[in-house]
Amino acid sequence: MSQVLELSNKHALSVERLTMAFPHGDRLLLALQGATLEVKRGELVCVVGASGSGKSTLLNILAGLDRPTAGRAHVHGRVALMFQEAALLPWLTAAGNVELALELRGVRASQRRTIACELLNRVHLAGFEKRRPHELSGGMKQRVALARALAQDADVLLMDEPFAALDAITRDLLHEELVRIWNESGLTILFVTHNAREAVRLGDRVLVFTSRPGRVAQEIRVDLPRPRSLDSPELAVIAGRITDRLKHEMTPNGD
Ligand SMILES: Nc1ncnc2c1ncn2[C@@H]1O[C@H](COP(=O)(O)OP(=O)(O)O)[C@@H](O)[C@H]1O
Ligand SMILES: [Mg+2]
Repeated sequence: MSQVLELSNKHALSVERLTMAFPHGDRLLLALQGATLEVKRGELVCVVGASGSGKSTLLNILAGLDRPTAGRAHVHGRVALMFQEAALLPWLTAAGNVELALELRGVRASQRRTIACELLNRVHLAGFEKRRPHELSGGMKQRVALARALAQDADVLLMDEPFAALDAITRDLLHEELVRIWNESGLTILFVTHNAREAVRLGDRVLVFTSRPGRVAQEIRVDLPRPRSLDSPELAVIAGRITDRLKHEMTPNGD
């Protein structure tokens, strides 16, 4: 019994033979079929797959927003989610958006402002506390969304292509921020992207998904030292291999 507990305690999340079928006209569309993966506590793991390969479906199931057709998905501890759109409440300031997450967590009113300002400072938004979302750039909105995710004091952060809509330089800066925050916090992160370079830039491991229905086709351990540069030749070589695999997956009858 204690051995079983010890084993499961190492993992922040586990997914076992997960299958998800959606009704599609008079047929079923298989988004995931037999997806199996595990993420250890404190790991930063990237899932890379083509559009439509079931990545968002996987995160939605892990977040408890959807029930799988078959299989098991389990997260140990509290989950926070981050999407491509920051999804901030437009009538609240940057600080107000973060304070709302603190309120939902039960943090006392007298402490919320101070903690929200600390969190905004951590994502380098000091001085922007009183701005409303429409007064912030895309990158700044995602910084607020990150601060709001941190405010939830989650154990596991699920990120669904959070930087996909940003320009290259802003995205690169946010990669740096994310890795720094991950290092400081000990968070477990599952980061989904369709961009092989981004996956190699960030991940301890990269899980390459098959095209629909999605499951893990290949696992790549990234041993490059951090900080990593998107422009490094070593990173490009690994990303190139992943891109080849993704292309192969997208060819009809590719596997
Ligand atoms: N709620 C839903 N109802 C019907 N089909 C869905 C639903 N959600 C996703 N799908 C389908 O499942 C497949 C996988 O979608 P998704 O998980 O969003 O892929 P990805 O995030 O990798 O682009 C797609 O073909 C998509 O159209
Ligand atoms: Mg998606």
